[in-house]
Amino acid sequence: MQITLQRQPIEEVQTNALIILVFQKRREDRLGLGELFDAGEISGKAFETTLVHNVPGMRARRVLAVGAGQPGKFNAAELRKAVGAAIRHLKSKSITDAAVWLDAAQTGADDVAAAVEGAILGDFETDRYKTDKKDVKPMERFTVAVAEGGPQLDAAVERGRIVAEAQNFTRELANEPSNRLTPMALAGDARRMAEEFGLECEVLDRDRMTQLGMGSLLGVAMGSAEPPALIILRYRPATPHAASVHLGLVGKGVTFDTGGISIKPADGMEKMKYDMSGGAAMIGAMRALAQLKPAIPVTALIPAVENMPGSRAQRPGDIVTSLSGKTIEVINTDAEGRLILADAISYAQKLGCTHLVDAATLTGAIVVALGHIHVGLFANDDALRERVLLAARAEGEKMWHMPLEDDYKDYLKSVFADLPNVGGRYGGAVTAAMFLKEFADPTPWVHLDIAGTAWLDDSKPFLAKGPTGVPLRTMVRLAMDWQ
Ligand code: BES
Ligand code: MN
Ligand code: ZN
Repeated sequence: MQITLQRQPIEEVQTNALIILVFQKRREDRLGLGELFDAGEISGKAFETTLVHNVPGMRARRVLAVGAGQPGKFNAAELRKAVGAAIRHLKSKSITDAAVWLDAAQTGADDVAAAVEGAILGDFETDRYKTDKKDVKPMERFTVAVAEGGPQLDAAVERGRIVAEAQNFTRELANEPSNRLTPMALAGDARRMAEEFGLECEVLDRDRMTQLGMGSLLGVAMGSAEPPALIILRYRPATPHAASVHLGLVGKGVTFDTGGISIKPADGMEKMKYDMSGGAAMIGAMRALAQLKPAIPVTALIPAVENMPGSRAQRPGDIVTSLSGKTIEVINTDAEGRLILADAISYAQKLGCTHLVDAATLTGAIVVALGHIHVGLFANDDALRERVLLAARAEGEKMWHMPLEDDYKDYLKSVFADLPNVGGRYGGAVTAAMFLKEFADPTPWVHLDIAGTAWLDDSKPFLAKGPTGVPLRTMVRLAMDWQ
């Protein structure tokens, strides 16, 4: 999709469809839309779409009024969604050339970036393996049209493009089926991306991880014929950071989660190809950061394994020794995410990371707690937690702070080892986070449980069903805003 910014009066925008935002309870009398508003045909309700042809005085061939909801609740995140909904509507009508008009109130850099992101994210389809794609054509041209604005708007268009393309890269990766995307295949994709965008990439194989003593990660990999990989991507700023901050992004990369010997029920198991969504988001974040060049060094670590019930698989009751030296009793082989993340977190500390964020489709319990709306956020450090929450809010990736206190330690007791890999029946998302905290402490760390938000089971007006790419945008902003 070709993306441009144009500064000109609204009447002069040349496009097949000019998207304009209309708000609830705010009569839109421009472009002859007042009549439609009075008749109730346009209400301004979020994502409502009304296509109007031959608007007098306009060079645009059509005007698409898209509902933007209540003006008081409107922000960059709503704009991203409104543009996404408009683009998806236009695509369904085979219109592949569009522009969005932004009024002076919506021409901050974040608004312009969000509009570009909305278009690119809305254009994405999960149809790679459909042999007949003739009903959905990709967008060819998208223009952001404003009356005026400085060069910061051109930079915002570029930033929006970089971030949204990275997010679609993540969505494509996450959507790959597990027969194609094995742990080594994921490592290959990460390496190719790193070569293209100038990042360092290192992949630790099973032998190297055995030497290092990553018994917790390797235990999970035992049941699969597919070898595991620890993928490491490094970005270094041209000038070293004064405060010597080093951000580590750890992403769960289980390319398929059968549950292992503690096997999952068949119903819905196909969704467990998404169990590497956290890893895919961190790889995508690095793709964006390689281009946007933050001031701080960022290292991503993605432990990639397939959790299978093979004849060599680990068994409930097995005890493994993690890289940290702590021993773990594997009570349930389906609680595998925390086992691989524990070693990746320890290794991130060895590499010198001073701050850590992990993203993982970790527990069904977080979906029970927060549904598919909020990411569950756990932290051992208030300052890092606030940084992440601030970035998430700016990016419209909803996150909710969950408890992480020593009282919960009572739920994590093993008779035979230092700790078990599961707690009891209650507070499953919290006990999973408490398990990780044992490895992350004392490094400032935030854990994001994205089990409910990594993919959509049904499409939204602004997004195709399938992987969402959450929390890539938050990670990118977190790194970019670090002073
Ligand atoms: N990958 C799953 C968690 C998950 C479930 C993600 C549903 C997305 C949707 C994870 O590895 C898992 O199996 N967790 C178990 C933990 C339990 C055994 C303590 C779970 O949540 O049931
Ligand atoms: Mn599992
Ligand atoms: Zn899993």
